[in-house]
Amino acid sequence: MPVNEEAQKNILGLHLPTDPRWTDLAAMRLEDILTDHAYCEQKAATSCISLIQKNADKEALVNELSPIVTEEWGHFRLVLQELRKRGLKLGRQRKDEYVNKLLQFQTKGDSAYKRLMDQLLMMALIEARSCERFKRLSEDLNDAYLRNFYRRFMESEAGHYALFIQLAELYMNKEKVRTRWAEWLQYEAHVMQELEVRGDRMH
Ligand SMILES: [Fe+2]
Ligand SMILES: [Fe+2]
Repeated sequence: MPVNEEAQKNILGLHLPTDPRWTDLAAMRLEDILTDHAYCEQKAATSCISLIQKNADKEALVNELSPIVTEEWGHFRLVLQELRKRGLKLGRQRKDEYVNKLLQFQTKGDSAYKRLMDQLLMMALIEARSCERFKRLSEDLNDAYLRNFYRRFMESEAGHYALFIQLAELYMNKEKVRTRWAEWLQYEAHVMQELEVRGDRMH
């Protein structure tokens, strides 16, 4: 299937920006934001571990993802430290509607390579969305320390996003990755819209 122009244009970009109100909400409920963020980092680490376990035979993937596990766990610890420092509590992990909806879009059948490509693209998407939100926080939060804190996360997650796309392209034809990436972007925009209409808290 040829990739249309629109998809090409958006190949690396999200279709829908985060609702601008989210930043104010974030500023008001720092404990919730940091708690959500902490679990995002945990999930990023465990997703990488699980990918390594399922793809032990793929050397490049194992080599590239092993340090990411350490990095994501380091991120978790930084967020935890920030909570403690401010006398805030790590809350309970909430149900993650966003990730659950993305999981529904992952191909269940197809070849093992297509399933792997989809897992990698979903992880790239989550990184891209985190990156976009951290950027917003790094620009709009009142606290200068936190703005800088989020800028560092933003840069790191941007690198992860690129890595997941590169890994997908290593195991799948580039054209197929691009086509599927465009489908993911479109699907994710719907998910975002749906969650916003329902007024769900996002991460
Ligand atoms: Fe991270
Ligand atoms: Fe990441």
